Amino acid sequence: MVPARSDTRSAELYRRALPVLPGGVNSPVRAMRAIGREPVFVARGRGAELIDVDGNRYLDYVCSWGPLIHGHAHPLVLEAIARAASHGTSFGAPTAGEVELAKEVARRMDAVQMLRMTSSGTEATMTALRLARAATGRELVLKFEGAYHGHVDGLLAQAGSGLATQALPASPGVPASTTALTVLVPWNDEQALRAACAEHELAAILAEPLPANMGLVAPAPGFLELLREQADANGALLVLDEVISGFRVARGGAQERGGVSADLTILGKILGGGLPAAALGGRRELLERLAPAGEVYQAGTLSGNPLAVAAGLATLSLLDEDAYGRLAASTERLARGLREAARAGGRPVSVASVPGLLTVFFAARPVRDFAGARACDTDAYGAWCRELLARGVYPPASQFEAWFPSLAHTEEQIERTLAVAAEAFAALDDTHAPAASGGRRRHERA
Ligand SMILES: Cc1ncc(COP(=O)(O)O)c(C=O)c1O
Repeated sequence: MVPARSDTRSAELYRRALPVLPGGVNSPVRAMRAIGREPVFVARGRGAELIDVDGNRYLDYVCSWGPLIHGHAHPLVLEAIARAASHGTSFGAPTAGEVELAKEVARRMDAVQMLRMTSSGTEATMTALRLARAATGRELVLKFEGAYHGHVDGLLAQAGSGLATQALPASPGVPASTTALTVLVPWNDEQALRAACAEHELAAILAEPLPANMGLVAPAPGFLELLREQADANGALLVLDEVISGFRVARGGAQERGGVSADLTILGKILGGGLPAAALGGRRELLERLAPAGEVYQAGTLSGNPLAVAAGLATLSLLDEDAYGRLAASTERLARGLREAARAGGRPVSVASVPGLLTVFFAARPVRDFAGARACDTDAYGAWCRELLARGVYPPASQFEAWFPSLAHTEEQIERTLAVAAEAFAALDDTHAPAASGGRRRHERA
């Protein structure tokens, strides 16, 4: 029996939100529509736990979609924010913390000699594209299907039909003239990548080195090296978006893990320790083209905000080799346990994982690309998530997202999660019997 949980206050807040916030939320995936339910309104978080406005407690595997690698309200991070706030919240002038943070990132990432901070990953991506276009004198940017780099017009692109190489807008309001500058290639498709690079003069090859926005779909062996090789041969810059993977999958992010170095690196999430901060990093001669050192314009009122910088520095200070070892071990335990629970429940499920990230795909075989992710039984994923939430586990409310286990998740909490996951698999009724073809729900971005 699942203990009954009240959601009266969340339901009431949702009703009040709908007339004043589009869809009742400030970012789409929070509405939980992709898993067929209403949103949970959160009151507070502590460690790995989230407590909603009705007093229900959840083990949180979203952790603000990645920034909270130490869980909620870590005392050292709170103390750093409070100390910074006591000196003033924003100056619109440089501070010592920004220099310290840039140096810390450079110590961790060989590819980053300099940083320009922004308030969101979207802005950092925009800056990366502008800089790549300025540096190469070219306009086309290659990106991969199913990758997300923020809500930048030209990157909200979908493949056209037939042999068209110019991408089409993936959202109303995106001008076709902007997506026409985007070349879309299926992830892990070596031939398509080679063909696109042979056909186009590119400003940049843009990729998430560990794509986590179609669920986690790791690069096939050699694919990251191929990106580097093709970028060099083409005369394009390699831009790696480590907004999710940066400081999470290893001290130096996916580039350290994969042994490939980018020309430009996009960072966010953990960089701001739960406050709004992101950055574009890279080689000095490229970054020095940004204003006022160079001619490429870029600016931001709250860029390098002292509270966000303090939270980021405190967060990074706790991320040593021991922390990465613990995160790898707990993610591995979670992934293995979820596979076993699915098997015991008779569910054909494929769990992709790397340290700090995992996705439960409702598919019998590992997912290699966006087409594979879309073919999964997302209705069954939604039903499973509803069962998890009813039992106090808070998963990403879309299969096209990753789970974000944190360093705050204890062994006991992970074992409890696995017990709940097994119950949730068992509770899936015949309506969610393994489907011959799933994927009926629309891919709704965070
Ligand atoms: C890989 C990646 N890049 C960029 C972004 C955009 O970052 P932001 O939401 O801070 O604009 C996201 C957001 O989830 C992301 O996952």
